[in-house]
Amino acid sequence: MRNIITLNEFILDKQNEFQYASGELTRLLNDIGIAARIINSEVRKAGLVDILGKAGSENIQGEEQQKLDVYADNQMINSFKYGGQVCGIASEENDDFLAFDQPNSVKGKYVAIFDPLDGSSNIDVNVSIGTIFSIYRRVSTDGPAQLEDFLQKGTEQVAAGYVIYGPSTMLVYTTGKGVNGFTLDPSIGVFCLSHPNMKMPDDGRLYSFNEGNYNSFSGGLQKYCDWVKEEDAATGRPYSCRYIASMLADIHRNLIKGGVFCYPATTGSPNGKLRLLYECNPMAFIVEQAGGIATTGHKRIMEIQPTELHQRVPALMGSKNMVNKVLEMIEQYG
Ligand code: AHG
Ligand code: MN
Ligand code: MN
Repeated sequence: MRNIITLNEFILDKQNEFQYASGELTRLLNDIGIAARIINSEVRKAGLVDILGKAGSENIQGEEQQKLDVYADNQMINSFKYGGQVCGIASEENDDFLAFDQPNSVKGKYVAIFDPLDGSSNIDVNVSIGTIFSIYRRVSTDGPAQLEDFLQKGTEQVAAGYVIYGPSTMLVYTTGKGVNGFTLDPSIGVFCLSHPNMKMPDDGRLYSFNEGNYNSFSGGLQKYCDWVKEEDAATGRPYSCRYIASMLADIHRNLIKGGVFCYPATTGSPNGKLRLLYECNPMAFIVEQAGGIATTGHKRIMEIQPTELHQRVPALMGSKNMVNKVLEMIEQYG
């Protein structure tokens, strides 16, 4: 029989590799695992119970919230609030950060930032969606969380990852010592190590761009989109376009198969569409830890100093050689 390593065992085992090995991050990651299983069980019922459809409210960005967005947001908040390791959270679904005021939470050394449900437009059509999270050590000394605790550069992340609700449910995370993936065994409700030490291939043949926006791409990106379609045996072109419109699912696939994902600035979204704190930084941490590159096209994503919680940035991430090719085109054609 195979030796199964569970998420909890793995986290405990790795605790000593972590520079602040006090057990708090271990508990925090376990809390995320619990929230993930609760959200997963609700996601798996989508279509069966009256959970699909709109919640009838809008978030700060004027987007309609889906019921599952709100449900997942509440589960994540509760998990962090009562876990006691986190003094506050910020998420896509909350205009401002939430500072917890329970006596155990104000002592929490960490803050959590998350996109409770990424790829909301895919909920109603039964396509992969997920939860993205990012963990920082607080910079304020004590008491309730402050804005400065959340506006830290991605390079300061102590952990980040995502849970993908696909044909199976996977939790993928990093604490800066490589990337590991766990698949949920639904029969026993346990995440089991299935993808140890994930490495992104340096090359690939998949590109994930919403090419419907081609006309508002920069010259360099348009050139790249033309280049991938040319026939060339040596480089394996034409490449294949793969675009799910759940960034975490697109990046997860590219992480395994090799590929490049891009959501650039467009006329409609001059700073790009994706949010720095709860989409780009955590996915950039994973991509870099797996050996890939994550940039805006001009700057390493994780080195951007955030100025606001819901800040957007252009995102270009994936296999090293593929991203470098895009950067070369940007350099040459703007
Ligand atoms: P969210 O559902 O959290 O708002 O994020 C959706 C994002 C991202 O996951 C995806 O890559 C992108 O929106 C797709 O946007 P387009 O439909 O404009 O391509
Ligand atoms: Mn999202
Ligand atoms: Mn979302």
